[in-house]
Amino acid sequence: MNNTKSIVVASLMIGLGLASCNSGSTRRNPGKIYAPDMTYSRAYDAYTANPNFADGQTSRKPISGTVAVGHELPDHMVEGDTNAYKSFTTDMRFNEAELAEGKRLFNIYCGICHGTNLDGQGPLYASGKFAAMPANLNDAKYLHMSAGTMYAAIKYGKNTMGSYASQLDIKQRWMVIAYIKKVQSENGGDAFAFGATGTATPAPVADTAVAATTETAKH
Ligand code: HEC
Repeated sequence: MNNTKSIVVASLMIGLGLASCNSGSTRRNPGKIYAPDMTYSRAYDAYTANPNFADGQTSRKPISGTVAVGHELPDHMVEGDTNAYKSFTTDMRFNEAELAEGKRLFNIYCGICHGTNLDGQGPLYASGKFAAMPANLNDAKYLHMSAGTMYAAIKYGKNTMGSYASQLDIKQRWMVIAYIKKVQSENGGDAFAFGATGTATPAPVADTAVAATTETAKH
């Protein structure tokens, strides 16, 4: 009896020992698959070949005319349309909170060069690390610059200034411009034309609306 027991125990141990060796090489077989549709994707993976499309690519381009979220507003002109951009403007009007947001965005993206006072003396230029002087937006040269020209500068960049199109969506670009125009209007620039109508302060709104008409007429 004792002998049989030890033979059984010994063979079990040998069996287990052999099983753990698993023939010494890397185990490639994943074993049983309980949910094959989860193990093997039925969808084509991105960047793989795909017989369903003429170009054989799984990754598709957006359908032509697709407009990205945040870019729904009219913005149809192209780089170099300098004259068209001069008269380009927007119907958007901004309330105090949006102007404050425009200021915040300006200070983040533009202030480093143009300075939070808009004087072109931002820390990057003042440090001497950026050779070209950023536009002094308080200077007479820029006080009456059309909003559309500013828009083109943000969208495409201007000489040594890079494009900010990927950082600011269309509304944000106009909010930044509205903020610049507001500051300029307080420093001898054109009357501010981007203020919201129908806000809590009726009197200035009436003024702004008049200013807006004049401004549009000028373009
Ligand atoms: C890296 C520095 C830098 C940053 C950041 C920068 N600018 Fe400029 N910007 C310049 C320089 C330099 C010029 C002068 C370009 C020239 O006239 O050669 C300029 C010119 C301009 C002009 C005048 C365009 C024209 O047609 O003459 C405007 C408007 C302007 N910037 C707005 C902005 C706004 C708005 C932002 C933020 C979204 C911004 N800039 C961010 C460096 C910068």
